Amino acid sequence: MSSRSQEQNQSPGGLDPYLSRTLFLLLLLAASTPSAKACLVYNSGNGSSINCHPTAEPPHHLPADTVYLAVEFFNLTQLPANILQGASNLQELHLSNNRLENLSAEFLLPVPQLKVLDLTHNALSQLPAGLFQASAALHTLVLKENCLEVLRALWLNGLKALAYLDLSGNRLQMLPPGLLANLTALQILDLGDNQLEVLPSDLLRGPLRLERLHLESNRLRVLGGDLLAPQPGLRYLFLQNNSLATVAAGAFQGLKELDMLDLSDNLLTSVPTGLWASLGQPARAMKEGFDISSNPWVCDKNLDDLYRWLVANNDTMFSRKDTLCAGPEDMKGRVLLEVARSQ
Ligand SMILES: *[C@@H]1O[C@H](CO)[C@@H](O)[C@H](O)[C@H]1NC(C)=O
Ligand SMILES: *[C@@H]1O[C@H](CO)[C@@H](O)[C@H](O)[C@H]1NC(C)=O
Ligand SMILES: *[C@@H]1O[C@H](CO)[C@@H](O)[C@H](O)[C@H]1NC(C)=O
Ligand SMILES: *[C@@H]1O[C@H](CO)[C@@H](O)[C@H](O)[C@H]1NC(C)=O
Ligand SMILES: *[C@@H]1O[C@H](CO)[C@@H](O)[C@H](O)[C@H]1NC(C)=O
Ligand SMILES: *[C@@H]1O[C@H](CO)[C@@H](O)[C@H](O)[C@H]1NC(C)=O
Repeated sequence: MSSRSQEQNQSPGGLDPYLSRTLFLLLLLAASTPSAKACLVYNSGNGSSINCHPTAEPPHHLPADTVYLAVEFFNLTQLPANILQGASNLQELHLSNNRLENLSAEFLLPVPQLKVLDLTHNALSQLPAGLFQASAALHTLVLKENCLEVLRALWLNGLKALAYLDLSGNRLQMLPPGLLANLTALQILDLGDNQLEVLPSDLLRGPLRLERLHLESNRLRVLGGDLLAPQPGLRYLFLQNNSLATVAAGAFQGLKELDMLDLSDNLLTSVPTGLWASLGQPARAMKEGFDISSNPWVCDKNLDDLYRWLVANNDTMFSRKDTLCAGPEDMKGRVLLEVARSQ
């Protein structure tokens, strides 16, 4: 079949297929231009969900039945005044990718049923005390990628139901004592990608059952014996990409259910005897695995305890080929697990 007869076969109406598709798209654009400034509204059985992205106009009033509002990617430095007034059923509020620098203490008063607040990628350097005084239903609070350098325990007052707190990607250098003292429902805490050098030893006193703790990509140098003790149910612990050179012998002692540990990318040359006793085999498998790669391990007798533990837990070890001896001289570059097996 020649290519010409193929073309003829494909356009029975005589109109070139490319041209007809272009016309269709133009019609579609013309039809949608008048409504391009409105937000998308979707009515679920429970109420209205409102999605606003550029180039729509951010809303100034919300229907009283609004349960979900997203106003994202506008680079807004301020929200329309009283935007939440009258939307007392609001459950989720997504304000990511704006440039909000502050919020008023009264901002959330109209929405006591709010469950999710996402403020990812704004410019918040502080929060007003009392912001969450009426937020007893808030379950998820995301403050990731803002400009927080300090936190105050008062800012978090009222968050009785908070299960997920994400403070990652800020500029936190230290945390105040008692920060989480009243957050009894907290399950996931993300403090990753900050500038933390030390943590208050009481940090984890308060939550009754933390499951996941993110401390990766900070500047921690020491892991003390007290920090993790209040959280026997912790299952995931992320400590990679810090400057840890010292881990206290009892640091993991209180952990009874750890399924995953990441200690990669630190400055560990050795670890104290007994550190691993409560983790992994023989007590129970560390189901999701562990990573101790990219540390300058000094493979001498001081690692005997670690060697035994590694062999017993070899099947859940990540990055084996990157878990190497950095010393002493004659051991440089050896694979730690192989050294352990040869003991
Ligand atoms: C509606 O509300 C019920 C009960 O709160 C909830 O289980 C369900 O997921 C909601 N549906 C939608 C579409 O939001
Ligand atoms: C927001 O800022 C980003 C980064 O400067 C830019 O790429 C984007 O186009 C801006 N969006 C709006 C809606 O102004
Ligand atoms: C945010 O801060 C600016 C400058 O300090 C102030 O003028 C404004 O009223 C504040 N806005 C809110 C909502 O607190
Ligand atoms: C914890 O809550 C109590 C009672 O509401 C309050 O008095 C106290 O200041 C709170 N503590 C912190 C550290 O927020
Ligand atoms: C490690 O942490 C530093 C900040 O401490 C960060 O800039 C870098 O991206 C992190 N590296 C990885 C691989 O996450
Ligand atoms: C690797 O771990 C498995 C499961 O814990 C264990 O049975 C086995 O003996 C270990 N292998 C070596 C070579 O030690």
